[in-house]
Amino acid sequence: MTPVADGVVAEVERPAAAAAAVASHRTEPLLAVEEVSVAFGGLRAVDRLSFEVDPGTIVGLIGPNGAGKSTALKIIGGEVRPTSGRVRFDGTDLVGTAPHEAARRGLVRTFQLGGEFGRLTVMENLLVAVPGMKGQSLLGALAGKRFWRASQDAEVRRARDILSGLQLRDKEDAYASDLSGGQRKLVEIARALMARPKMLLLDEPMAGVNRSLARRIEETLSSLRAEGIALLLVEHELGSVERLCERVVVMASGSKIAEGDMSEVRSRDDVLSAYLGRRR
Ligand SMILES: Nc1ncnc2c1ncn2[C@@H]1O[C@H](COP(=O)(O)OP(=O)(O)OP(=O)(O)O)[C@@H](O)[C@H]1O
Ligand SMILES: [Mg+2]
Repeated sequence: MTPVADGVVAEVERPAAAAAAVASHRTEPLLAVEEVSVAFGGLRAVDRLSFEVDPGTIVGLIGPNGAGKSTALKIIGGEVRPTSGRVRFDGTDLVGTAPHEAARRGLVRTFQLGGEFGRLTVMENLLVAVPGMKGQSLLGALAGKRFWRASQDAEVRRARDILSGLQLRDKEDAYASDLSGGQRKLVEIARALMARPKMLLLDEPMAGVNRSLARRIEETLSSLRAEGIALLLVEHELGSVERLCERVVVMASGSKIAEGDMSEVRSRDDVLSAYLGRRR
């Protein structure tokens, strides 16, 4: 266990503190990242990073290229094990937990629809994303539409509902590889929703997407929050971050350098120079 400087761990662990939090009706954070670090060779990609996400809120994780944002998401989602620190999600410790186990507990990271998944239809992509579903293997998916239609009615209906919400209902039988980049991003979100998440981890969901689809993705994210799903959003498109996020965490060179609402952090000199310093 790592030493923590600011007593975050103690606050979570001490029953008296927990009782006090309940007594004051303070919401427990859904996600608590506590002093998390990881190094690649000599490079401290993430350096004692701490922040929290409350249920049903959107937190932005921003910073210049190479700041450590994607690595932080991978630590939280269980793909990269931190050398120190803790990740607590919904009351349990996540460090050392595999991504599929984190997903089972309600924390889901979106994945790019690459490789084999391009050869599946949109519907098949959604159905293979259901955790623990019979026939979850790619082979099962490749058995074809009839197999799904016959045996997975409830999940098919749910997949259709999700696709309708994203205005993708007419793409159900399209191959993922035939979709535009923006549509693929929406399918990635749709796949994550099939797992019934409490929280989604999104890495640049608007990157390379045209403006109208980016707006649709924004609306989607905002309606997910309205449904009570929390989001951690890594995104370079700061206009979207400002419209969506009640709070942002700014990283540079692996560390958190600022936290607050977007209008607060964007006027700070250290935030501006972290961005400008990398864009030279
Ligand atoms: N698997 C790895 N092995 C070695 N170095 C890595 C690895 N993953 C990331 N890094 C390095 O760690 C640092 C942080 O990378 P990361 O991808 O987390 O940044 P980022 O904030 O997501 O950047 P971007 O905005 O460009 O996506 C970078 O210097 C990167 O080169
Ligand atoms: Mg990244």
